[in-house]
Amino acid sequence: MSETAEPTGPGRVVGTPVTAVYPELRGKAAVVTGAARGMGARFAAALAARGVDVVGADIDADAMAVTAKEIAEEVAGAEGPGRVVAAGMDVTRAEDHEAVAASAAREFGRLDFWINNAGIFPFAEVGDVTPAQIRATLSVNVEGVLFGAQAAARHMRPGGAIVNMSSVSAVRVRRGRGAYCASKAAVAHLTESLAVELGDQGIRVNSIAPGYIDTEMTRWVREDPKALQHALDVVPLHRLGSPEEVVGPLLFLLSDSARYVTGHGIAVDGGSRHV
Ligand SMILES: NC(=O)c1ccc[n+]([C@@H]2O[C@H](COP(=O)([O-])OP(=O)(O)OC[C@H]3O[C@@H](n4cnc5c(N)ncnc54)[C@H](O)[C@@H]3O)[C@@H](O)[C@H]2O)c1
Repeated sequence: MSETAEPTGPGRVVGTPVTAVYPELRGKAAVVTGAARGMGARFAAALAARGVDVVGADIDADAMAVTAKEIAEEVAGAEGPGRVVAAGMDVTRAEDHEAVAASAAREFGRLDFWINNAGIFPFAEVGDVTPAQIRATLSVNVEGVLFGAQAAARHMRPGGAIVNMSSVSAVRVRRGRGAYCASKAAVAHLTESLAVELGDQGIRVNSIAPGYIDTEMTRWVREDPKALQHALDVVPLHRLGSPEEVVGPLLFLLSDSARYVTGHGIAVDGGSRHV
């Protein structure tokens, strides 16, 4: 998969950053939304490599099926890899969440983790952004997270964990992304509300706030020399991050090492939130 490319920029690092195993994850079951590519695909692969059964769900069902097959081949050599089952799903539809949660519980006999990862990023300044773009952004990025948490909570037992994908855009405003910034600020705040209420069921809810991570969503940065140079100049670590570099924080949040951590957000942004 192309997402394994090494990070870009003068502060380039090499080698995989994810060596943590977290043996307690083995035998558990997870749903990852938006898993056909990008970070979601790497999350699904990292979990499967550690013996977690995964439903990877994406609106692009064909791409999801291909990715699930690639991940199965990738992790085949791991010790006791988890299964990866592909599902078509539109996160804006509450009924799709319920169907995916029920299929995970049926297929694997349990549901322990839910990663609300699917997201969209329309680039448009306030004078240009259309009602359709605004509604789609809020529907996928915010309603999708809330529906996911609802379905997860109906099927999880105490000890379950939900991770939502927020963004540096939740705390730093950039031109051309008002709807996206608003949606990700909502995800960060929603994570806290969910943590308070789902704590009653022993379910933890945390978020991850990535900065510039090198995926299809940020291809425009890589392809625009000015935008790329700007990113490399302003990010304190002077490089883009790789999807693999978000895996470690995800595994930590799901693991028993974080069992008293809820309602928290981890920034994985090379320091971008400070500039
Ligand atoms: N890449 C970054 O720099 C960055 C930074 C901050 C936050 N994030 C967030 O991290 C998450 C993953 O980002 P990525 O860069 O891997 O994105 P990506 O665009 O590479 O992948 C997103 C996936 O979500 C799927 N998707 C979109 N709409 C959907 C829907 N309605 N239902 C189901 N699936 C849907 C897409 O088909 C795609 O496979 C997103 O929530 C994104 O907003 C990304």
